[in-house]
Amino acid sequence: MDHDQSAPPLPPHVLVFPLPVQGHLNSMLKLAELLCLGNLHVTMLVSDFSHSRLLRHTSVHSHFARYPGFCFRTISDGLPEDHPRAGERVVEIMSSIKSVTGPQFQEMMIATDCFASETKRPITCIIADGVLSFAGDFAIQRGIPLIYFRTVSACSFWAYFCMPELIEAQEIPLKGNGMDLLVKSVPGMEGFLRRRDLPGFYRVDEISDPRLQVVKTETRQTPRAQAVIKNTFDDLEGPILSQVRTHCPNLFSIGPLHAHLKAKLAAETNSSSTSSGSFWEEDRSCVTWLDSQPSKSVIYVSFGSITVVTRNQLLEFWYGLVNSGQRFLWVMRPDSITEKNGENQIPVDLVEGTKERGYMVGWAPQEEVLAHPAVGGFLTHSGWNSTLESIVSGVPMICWPYFADQMINSRFVSEVWKIGLDMKDTCDRVIVQKMVRDLMDVRKDEFQERVSHMANLAKRAVNEGGSSYCNLDALIKYINSMIE
Ligand code: UDX
Repeated sequence: MDHDQSAPPLPPHVLVFPLPVQGHLNSMLKLAELLCLGNLHVTMLVSDFSHSRLLRHTSVHSHFARYPGFCFRTISDGLPEDHPRAGERVVEIMSSIKSVTGPQFQEMMIATDCFASETKRPITCIIADGVLSFAGDFAIQRGIPLIYFRTVSACSFWAYFCMPELIEAQEIPLKGNGMDLLVKSVPGMEGFLRRRDLPGFYRVDEISDPRLQVVKTETRQTPRAQAVIKNTFDDLEGPILSQVRTHCPNLFSIGPLHAHLKAKLAAETNSSSTSSGSFWEEDRSCVTWLDSQPSKSVIYVSFGSITVVTRNQLLEFWYGLVNSGQRFLWVMRPDSITEKNGENQIPVDLVEGTKERGYMVGWAPQEEVLAHPAVGGFLTHSGWNSTLESIVSGVPMICWPYFADQMINSRFVSEVWKIGLDMKDTCDRVIVQKMVRDLMDVRKDEFQERVSHMANLAKRAVNEGGSSYCNLDALIKYINSMIE
């Protein structure tokens, strides 16, 4: 590095390295921008696959051009281009990342002198997705300060962290029996957490199942890091964050990140517009459709970037929505339906009901949709980003969790925060119809009141003086202190 001695010292240079899937990248992209606004240099390492999707479907490059200290670098995710990266096969990314990306990462970091240049220090801190332990290994070997970012809720992280105790008490693996028994080995959740609410990776036959083992290894190594960042806020998950802090005391809860970024941009640049990090083309025609719908009359339906449904499940949801008589906006990703079986005929009553009251797109500008005044409910898979986005917009939820952390997020939505209904482990048109009516009509006021309160708490957290606002300040000071 050849830096002019009379110039002010170069700021810290942070590497932000997400697991290359949509949900993880979305939140870490927001984090990267917040760090740029905190005057840090940031290199964001994304997979070639993610990067090409971002280039195709977003304006992320032109948006980030305003931060001269920011740049993208790319690396392979180890999967062939045509791998689905969805449904059950998404977990294959964990092994390809370890065997292919890990060694490439190490080579790349060494060959580039950790991305040093005339205008940038070599990386002074690695903020790695908490499931990329190989990045942690590298940081520790090289003496580079390490911070883990866990993109999931604190409640699911804690339920993962308690895996040894759950195994010891024989509460997992979940083999389908006793699913309604209360769980005793996750401190702070006694009394409301049933076995069926435990993270989906616990639904295996044997403890030796690699899916379970990988979560255990990745989660239990978290305390190696000097600090941990969580996309949550104290008023939402305070008691659970206290539990996590007994193992990871240097924990910065700075979420909801999307709202935090908007608040910072509005305060510092007079424009709160952010860049989407979408892997698919956002179909904005749904916003025009929403513009012509009455206030809080539409239920928004989306199951995120990974969920797939069978044709049978699709029809149960579809009948439930149409029979509820409510208006609906449904995101049906092109790759989200399995077992098509050559049966593409849609029953005529569904086609008619959809023409009258429904609208469908392949991918939506979700944050904007949830903030739209016409949206009054969200039928969601309970991905953590979707959950936070719904809370910030004050939209109550019906939860149909698909896998992983979503099983426990949905329990917190229905039983702890009481801002929605949980339909996990069922997929039946009568239940869908009833829940949609309950959420949008019969019990509308009670849900609305509680979720509006939570939305206010979220906004308070990310604005000046709020808990997440102060924690982000502290995090940036901490990263600055690493070069002093
Ligand atoms: C997954 C997990 O479910 C999640 O809990 C984990 O934290 C990250 O990985 P995903 O299933 O995609 O992610 O769900 P979610 O976390 O909700 O993220 C989806 C993101 O895609 C959200 O930020 C949402 O706004 C965005 N999205 C979704 C769109 O922009 N448009 C859409 O049409 C659908």
